[in-house]
Amino acid sequence: MTSPRPPAVQLSIVIPTFNERGNIAELVRRIDNCMGDTPWEVVYVDDNSPDGTAAAVRELAQTDGRVRLVHRIGRRGLSSACIEGMLASTAPFIAVMDADLQHDETLLPHMLAALRNDGLDVVVGSRHADGGSLGDWDAGRAKISDVATRLAKLVTQAELRDPMSGFFMLRREVLYEAMPKLSAIGFKILLDIFASVPRPLKFKELGYTFRNRFSGESKLDSMVAWEYLMMLLDKRVGHIVPVRFVPFAAIGAAGVVVHMIVLWLMFKSMGQSFAAGQTLATLIAMTANFFFNNAFTYRDRRLKGWGLLRGWLSFTLACSLGAVANVGIATYLFRENTADWALAALSGIVVGAVWNYAVTSVYTWGK
Ligand code: GDD
Ligand code: MN
Repeated sequence: MTSPRPPAVQLSIVIPTFNERGNIAELVRRIDNCMGDTPWEVVYVDDNSPDGTAAAVRELAQTDGRVRLVHRIGRRGLSSACIEGMLASTAPFIAVMDADLQHDETLLPHMLAALRNDGLDVVVGSRHADGGSLGDWDAGRAKISDVATRLAKLVTQAELRDPMSGFFMLRREVLYEAMPKLSAIGFKILLDIFASVPRPLKFKELGYTFRNRFSGESKLDSMVAWEYLMMLLDKRVGHIVPVRFVPFAAIGAAGVVVHMIVLWLMFKSMGQSFAAGQTLATLIAMTANFFFNNAFTYRDRRLKGWGLLRGWLSFTLACSLGAVANVGIATYLFRENTADWALAALSGIVVGAVWNYAVTSVYTWGK
């Protein structure tokens, strides 16, 4: 005799986690309390947290079949975790929420009802809609969030009052409409979705009060702000150049300044030979560029320990070849009179920069 089948899951709740072990069971308990008889599943997406979050999820899943785990090893990122969790889920409706109990789970049934009954694409849990609030936030954090919210206007026309929200629910189809264009960078997956779907989304915001963390610590840091800017930039220029090329080129330009300062110090101020000054300046500028790119452009693939030495070697080697190509092409264009001096120089620089970017993206920071 076959056993009765459990009813089909209606709602998949995707929850990204990094060091959230103390929140796992409590969140599932609270979801269970408020979902009534709607069949749901929870998909935790853990980036191999050192505190053993994945093991805690597996343990819970042993006694509760509605709990599932996507365990990512060697990867980091809130948005990309949410995307993989959504893709690994199966219900017609998908919610995304934080693990730390700051999002009000009692909103879930209301979000689902709104999606079903009002023919919407997305329902957003909002701190700025009626009935919503930032909770205990101090003025400083509220101000930063306000600036970020205004910047969101650069990438979406939608009149979203809380585009920075990480608490929302959507119809599965919307995910696939967004998929081809998602940037998957940083923390702001909702904004990424709004900016990626090539039509205005039908949405509604439901207010809730942002709570304090239940257990553990926030992962929000200055780098999250940087990744936010990269995500906005990717939305604006990503179809023209790879977004990483922008900080790479900017750091390269700053490297020229570093070069000139070192050269000036050595040659003009300390009376060393031009060749010695130029050599040291080149080395220092390349090294500075390597460390800045490692810290910013490739923050998510940051090299550490011995990897730094290997990375530095491949970076300086690649950039040395880039410099040879730069000088070769510029000199050729200048000599053949195909371009005037400034244009010849600029052509060399562009070819060198593209070479440096392409080669180091594969050999220095590729995997
Ligand atoms: N898998 C994975 N990988 N999860 C992550 C990562 C990561 O690299 N970084 C953070 N998370 C998870 C956390 O474990 C938590 O469940 C959730 O993402 C939010 O991270 P917090 O560190 O709690 O961030 P927050 O509270 O400052 O920011 C949140 O609040 C915003 C509202 O201001 C984010 O969730 C935003 O999406 C939300 O809108
Ligand atoms: Mn949080």
